[in-house]
Order: sequence, then C-alpha cells, then structure tokens
Amino acid sequence: MGKIKLQTAGKKLRGTLTMPGDKSISHRAVMLGSIASGDTRVQHLLDSEDVRRTVTAMSNLGVTFSTDNHDLIIHGRSLNELVEPSQMLDMGNSGTTARLLMGLLANQPFAVTFRGDKSLSKRPFARVIKPLIAMGVSFVTKNDHLPVTKLGTHELAGLVYELPVASAQVKSAIILAALQAKTPTTIIGPIATRDHTERMLAAFGVQLVREDHQIKITPQTHLTATTIRVPGDISSAAFWIVAGVLVPKSALTLKQVGINPTRTGIMKILQRMGAKFSFDNESADGEPMADIQVQSQSLHGTTITAVDVPAMIDEMPLVVLAATQAQGDTVISGASELHVKESDRIATVTTQLNKLGANIEPREDGFYIHGGTPLQVKQPTIIDSCGDHRVGMMLTIAALITTGDVSLANAEAVNISYPNFFSDLSEVID
Ligand code: S3P
Repeated sequence: MGKIKLQTAGKKLRGTLTMPGDKSISHRAVMLGSIASGDTRVQHLLDSEDVRRTVTAMSNLGVTFSTDNHDLIIHGRSLNELVEPSQMLDMGNSGTTARLLMGLLANQPFAVTFRGDKSLSKRPFARVIKPLIAMGVSFVTKNDHLPVTKLGTHELAGLVYELPVASAQVKSAIILAALQAKTPTTIIGPIATRDHTERMLAAFGVQLVREDHQIKITPQTHLTATTIRVPGDISSAAFWIVAGVLVPKSALTLKQVGINPTRTGIMKILQRMGAKFSFDNESADGEPMADIQVQSQSLHGTTITAVDVPAMIDEMPLVVLAATQAQGDTVISGASELHVKESDRIATVTTQLNKLGANIEPREDGFYIHGGTPLQVKQPTIIDSCGDHRVGMMLTIAALITTGDVSLANAEAVNISYPNFFSDLSEVID
C-alpha cells in the first residue's frame, strides 16, 4: 500500500458498517481453543496479520485448524500434547501473541524461542518474564527484549502477585501459567483491565474467583471445547465513532460491537466531553454486544487521569484527535504506557497531528491538548503511520477534517488489526 493520498476533506460519513472481530478476543479464542479437548468453533474471528501470528504459532505447536463456512474450527490438543516447534515462533508485530503465549507455554518441557519485528523487539518483556521467573520458569534474553527463549520447565509454583503496570497482557500471561502451577495464585491489580481471558476461560469451563481487585486461580488444565462468537472490535469501531462525531453531517451505525465495560472507555470519555450515542440490539451473554449509532456533535475539553486509561488505552490516539476539536483544553495524564505501544504513541500522535495544524504538547505521561484548532495544511503534507496501525487509522480520520493536500505514508500498517479499513471508509464516505 505504501503512501496513499487522502482526498476526503469536506465529505460526510453515512451508512452502516459491521465491525471486524475483536483482536484481543480473537487471540484468546485461538489460544484457549488450541488447548481445549474437542473441536472449538470460532465465529467472526478477526482475520488480520496479528491474529494470523497466533494461528501460525499454535500450528507450529502441533494444533490443527479447519474452516466451516466463515468459522474457524480448532482441533484442540491438551497442554501435554503440544509438540516442540521446529523453528522460532515469529510474533511479528503482535505483543498480545507474544506475552500471552509466554504464559500459556510456561510449563512446557521443551524450549521455545519467540522473535518479533523491529517494533515488537523494542517493547518491554520484563513485565511478563519477571513474574514467570518467580513461578519457576527460566528464560534466556538480552535486556528482556525479543528474541527471548523460554527454557523447558518441569514444575510451576503459584504466587501472590501485585501487577506493577495495569496490563491485561501481563495479567493474562500469569493466569494462563497459574492454571498449570502446583499451588494457587492470587493476582492483585488496583485498576481494572480488559477481562476477556477471565470471561473466555469461563466459557471453556474454568472458573476463576474474582473479587474486588483480586483474581484467585486454582490450578486446572482441563478446558472443554465450546463455540465462541467474537464481537465486533470496539477499538476498530472507535475510528468511526470519533469520525461520526467530528465530521459534520455524519450519521453512522456500527453493528455488533463488543461493549465489555473494560473496553468502552472511549465512549465514556466522549460522553464526558458532551457526546451522546444510542445503543440497539444489546445482547449480554459472555461478551456483551450492541449496535452503536453516532452522529456529528460538538465536544468540550476534559481531564483524563490514570484510572480512565486502561479502558481506552488503544483509543488514546483518537481521544487526542477528538480533543483537538473540542472547545477548551484537555489534559491527559497517567498514560505513560503509550510510550511502549506499537510506536511511542505520545511522540507519534503529537508529531503527526501537529503537522496538520493541531496544537498538542507531549508530556512524560500524556498530553496537553489545546482545543478548537482547525486542521489545515498550506502545502502538500505527508503524515506517517510510523508503522503503527492505530496511528495510521487515526490520521486517516484526521484527514477527513483537514483542508489541504494530505497523504498517508506506511498505510499498510492497518492490516495488523483492520485490513478492510480503507474499503469500509469508501463504503460510508458520501
Ligand atoms: C491487550 C492489552 C493491552 C492493549 C493491547 C491488547 C490484550 O495491552 O493495549 O492492544 O489483548 O490483552 P497491555 O496489556 O500492554 O496494556
């Protein structure tokens, strides 16, 4: 795809889109289905580069897959039937695959080496490696970055672990390892993070005890195959939610979007900034879903702090864009995790949006955003995804409200989570 011209300013967005499957839930469905006994059917699995990494990794560990219509059928093998991979497991850009698999494979008697692309190789793994070492796993790594080799393990011990970062990936890795330990584990996490692993384990017959800020895991390795319906990804819907709000005369309906409360922070913040949405056809078993309707409306600035962040961590580039168009300023703090995402999102979001005329000041743990700044460029301007899917899609939405000649470099990054993003855009642009 490379560089593409975004000739979209002045158009409105109207119509209905069905969102691709949720990325976080798709990864978990493939992993848990792989270690369940029997065949698991996954409906509406996200077909994107990141999820393909998980499917390929599980294939390299001996799991087989087939398809039935549009469903993925996973022919599960129990944890003690996985086979030693004949090659390194290539995680590509996918932090979720790498971190969750380190937990899932923690107790395997063979060594596994994880490698990743340039971006993933810069991201921190000590946060997963440290608790797993405390449980009895051994790793070979240079500075806790990929490539990382997990050595063969023969016995895991449970532990009591207070999460130093509010991270669902770390929490999930520990849960997956804890199920295979000899003794129980307690995970303490003061700020709630996405709970898809906990919910999906229940669907596979494994109940965790969740109370206040704690999760108690009693070892259990038997998972029973099931059918998983993956909801539409709220992180993908978020591009259209923000576009619908910001682009004048727009009206969009987004079908079957996952509205798990640990993921809907973007909607709560936009509501706090003055936006209104309507929800239809709500369904609530396992992972809640709804159709979301959004229209153009005006926003005012707000203050966002650490407690708000996990429920909208991946949507933060869009929150910053929305804040540039709000009346009044917005301050975001407690978001230093953005430095270690697919790009340093405090740097990339600030630099790229400021190229379009925004007035954003980066802060060590967030942003100060001056609201009410019209986006415009006087000369042809190239904005860059910086290889980060969410930055690339946010910038494409920004271009819808930017006057002047704008192109997006490294547009192919969208394939990580939303391969149909540009075709969906052409579907609703009017
Ligand atoms: C994810 C958790 C979040 C999120 C990532 C997906 C998951 O990462 O940013 O895109 O599926 O568990 P952290 O756990 O690092 O916050």
